Amino acid sequence: MEVVIVPTVQDAAAVVVEAITAALHRRPAPVLGVATGSSPLPTYRLLVTAVGAGRLSFATASAVLLDEYVGLPLDHPQSYRTFIRTHLTDLVDLDPRRLHGPDVGADDLPAACAAYEQLLLELGGVDLQLLGIGSDGHIGFNEPSSSLTSRTRIKTLTEQTRRDNARFFGALGEVPRHVVTQGLGTIAAARHAVLVATGAAKAGPVAAAVEGPLTAMCPASVLQLHPHATVVVDEPAASGLRLAGYYRDVFAAKPAWQGL
Ligand code: GLP
Repeated sequence: MEVVIVPTVQDAAAVVVEAITAALHRRPAPVLGVATGSSPLPTYRLLVTAVGAGRLSFATASAVLLDEYVGLPLDHPQSYRTFIRTHLTDLVDLDPRRLHGPDVGADDLPAACAAYEQLLLELGGVDLQLLGIGSDGHIGFNEPSSSLTSRTRIKTLTEQTRRDNARFFGALGEVPRHVVTQGLGTIAAARHAVLVATGAAKAGPVAAAVEGPLTAMCPASVLQLHPHATVVVDEPAASGLRLAGYYRDVFAAKPAWQGL
């Protein structure tokens, strides 16, 4: 795992964009795994600017959702499909038919989850999966106690996650209880996993994920097993890391040819 500590939120976004740019050039039809939440927003703004300036293109790319609420219409303002369309895919040159997510409206949800796993395979796998981290260490919507090898499936949100996400809804009661999320095993299959976390509130979960034990109680700790995982944090989010000095030294001395 590589930990990149940068001074500001904007710097973190710039590092993530560098990784995404590299991933988009790795295959003729690349696949970007997209996450919701506030953490990736500065990254999405930079991507939109880069595409507008002609420095980057999604023309041959697909985007795949990390997770989705169950019970919201797909065009609901808080559905994750709407979120990703609003903040990224409608603003760049990605073919709207190549934005994919699990079919959470299906009568047979387990079959829809299996179909989503199959789709990811048919697309050739995910080149880069962007991730945020929840206050309880979740990635996607894999709550604590999630199997470390889980695949896409239905999950029930914890009260804490529902409260964290209530800010996007009118009231706590409007936050769905159920979601479909890529599993930890699904996320682990992405060629490059990039977690971005900024702000002091993320210091605890980041430290647990990076330096704590590998445990289902901190689902993001599964990234410790990933052969190519990058954790990009600003200084406040890095404040709980014991080896912060070492991570800074490693990054400062990184050979240019290595990339992210
Ligand atoms: C939700 C999403 C996660 C995201 C998390 C943190 O739970 N399912 O993918 O990482 O929120 O969001 P934020 O970045 O706003 O703190």
